[in-house]
Amino acid sequence: MDHETAPATPSLARPRPVERLVQGQDTSDGAGVKLTRVLTQNLQRRLDPFLMLDAFGTDNPGDYIGGFPDHPHRGFETVTYMLAGRMRHRDSAGNVGLLTPGAVQWMTAGRGVIHSEMPEQQDGRMEGFQLWLNLPARQKMTDPWYRDIRPDEVPVWRGEGVAARVIAGRSHGVDGAMQREHTEPLYLDLELAPGAVFEQPLADSHNAFVYVYRGELAVGPQPVPARRMAILANLPGSDGVRLAAAPAGARAILVAGRPLGEPIAQYGPFVMNTHGEIVQAVDDFRAGRLA
Ligand code: FE2
Repeated sequence: MDHETAPATPSLARPRPVERLVQGQDTSDGAGVKLTRVLTQNLQRRLDPFLMLDAFGTDNPGDYIGGFPDHPHRGFETVTYMLAGRMRHRDSAGNVGLLTPGAVQWMTAGRGVIHSEMPEQQDGRMEGFQLWLNLPARQKMTDPWYRDIRPDEVPVWRGEGVAARVIAGRSHGVDGAMQREHTEPLYLDLELAPGAVFEQPLADSHNAFVYVYRGELAVGPQPVPARRMAILANLPGSDGVRLAAAPAGARAILVAGRPLGEPIAQYGPFVMNTHGEIVQAVDDFRAGRLA
């Protein structure tokens, strides 16, 4: 789906400034997959309803070939977005899917799934993101659900020097591939030509960040280089964010959502509201009740 629209003229009256830049932590997960944890556990409260963002990108098969063998989740949603490479997904409900470049997998773990995410290639580049989106307390034990979104099912808004793939939420009149009622996530993948400017209205109460994965952009006077996350300040009365690409251009994701304001209790792949619910999740997993 492609939406051709006239270039947007600057329209924000009070764009948000950057609160701070974050450099992710290099780590590994699954069976030795190397990745950068951009949104770490200590930022869960600040970036509520987002719990985690991993960025992976490598040409070295040794960094990804082990994949993520069978593991459980409970209490939130995972959103996997591929830029390069192919990953095969299987889960305990019998679902099987293949992620290809530009595709998205949106999985609601709910009361529990066990799944694997394995590379379906022996060499070549693997690049993408996995974002964890929290569920409101009353939906944490909902039935598991998932959707594979093909690359051509992600709507694109095009402005002057800008292509915005609207994975979730709404941008410039384009409805994204996914909508969520309680957390109202916005998830854009942006390609900005050298010097291009992109504006996105945002409610000032929503938590928001930009992660630049190629090139560089600026938010007001603050440059945001590649491999940095800019947490956008929740300035009262602000009306959005204005991103201006550096002369080299930029690729970035812009993510925003409505905070849930509920307690967060995490133990590895389980994210609930209380310690007791975590103990229950571990018990259920050990007893085979997540499969
Ligand atoms: Fe997983």
